[in-house]
Amino acid sequence: MSKPKAATTTSPKPQTANISTNRIPGSVISVNDLSMEDLNSVLQMAAVLENEDPLVRSKRLAKRRVALLFYESSTRTRTSFELAAKSLGADTALISSQSSSIEKGESLKDTGITLRSLGAECIIMRHLSSGAPYLLEQSTGLPILNGGDGMHEHPSQALLDLRTMLTRLFGAAKATRVNEKTLAGVTVSIVGDIFHSRVARSNALLLPRLGARVVFCGPAPLLPDMAAEIGPGVEIDRDFDRVLDRSQVVMMLRIQAERLAGMRLDLDEYKTRYQLTEERQAAHAPKAPMLHPGPIIRGLELTAGVADNRQSAIAEQVRHGVAIRMALVLRALGAGKTAKKAAKGKRA
Ligand code: CP
Repeated sequence: MSKPKAATTTSPKPQTANISTNRIPGSVISVNDLSMEDLNSVLQMAAVLENEDPLVRSKRLAKRRVALLFYESSTRTRTSFELAAKSLGADTALISSQSSSIEKGESLKDTGITLRSLGAECIIMRHLSSGAPYLLEQSTGLPILNGGDGMHEHPSQALLDLRTMLTRLFGAAKATRVNEKTLAGVTVSIVGDIFHSRVARSNALLLPRLGARVVFCGPAPLLPDMAAEIGPGVEIDRDFDRVLDRSQVVMMLRIQAERLAGMRLDLDEYKTRYQLTEERQAAHAPKAPMLHPGPIIRGLELTAGVADNRQSAIAEQVRHGVAIRMALVLRALGAGKTAKKAAKGKRA
């Protein structure tokens, strides 16, 4: 377990998030839908549920209905949300754009209303378009859990990343409680295709609230200068070795080829400057845990050796995803009554 090194630069002032107050109770579309109290409640509940007797746990949401609406492919998010809901005893239904009436042109709004009529009390969704979860929330009145919308946000990923970091840096017992200073002195570098990354955005909004400094690193086409304006506590440094030298946590990102839209990249140059190799890691960040939201592309943003060595937290991230998502689904359904009332009010 690597403890944070002493900060090499002054820690940023902890940030007060612009917390959203107009969400349907239980919805999480952005990390900013969660207050500090909510963050603590999710982290604590994740630990409780993870350690609970599976039979007891499966009674928590027995026969409640949860829909998973996926317009974009996913392995980790979809499976872990589904397993999370099932572990709590809920009935789940998966709707993917390739095998549903979405293919025939049914709109997001009508698909959502249909799922609500089928008894869904919460919709977990992934969509290609930024902001789509807001439309679904508005048109159904149901709590929405955002499993990634375009280039906007992926809040449950940032929460599982947070739990992974806290566990690696401080131990599992201290991964259930956070405040504005929890990550003071910790620099988290996020490296690669920042421009297209909803994971980078959610982490950059969340981590500085806990006192961390976030350093984005990558080439200009994948990391425009304006990315630093996402909020205080976030900066850009394009020198990868220098960034690694000061990082207590390193998060590598995939180049999102599906979103490049004609952008040309010299991959050999990219690898020379930004690939995390074992040599580079040993020389510049020999203790920092290495996170990656997946899917990883071995031989591009990182080498196979880095993906598989002891610094790699990739498998832990996936495991933490189930616990975090159980807590989020429970929270969403726990607010079910209020959410149903809101839905009724909207239909009236
Ligand atoms: N991290 C993540 O969102 O992975 P999937 O696309 O497989 O869900």
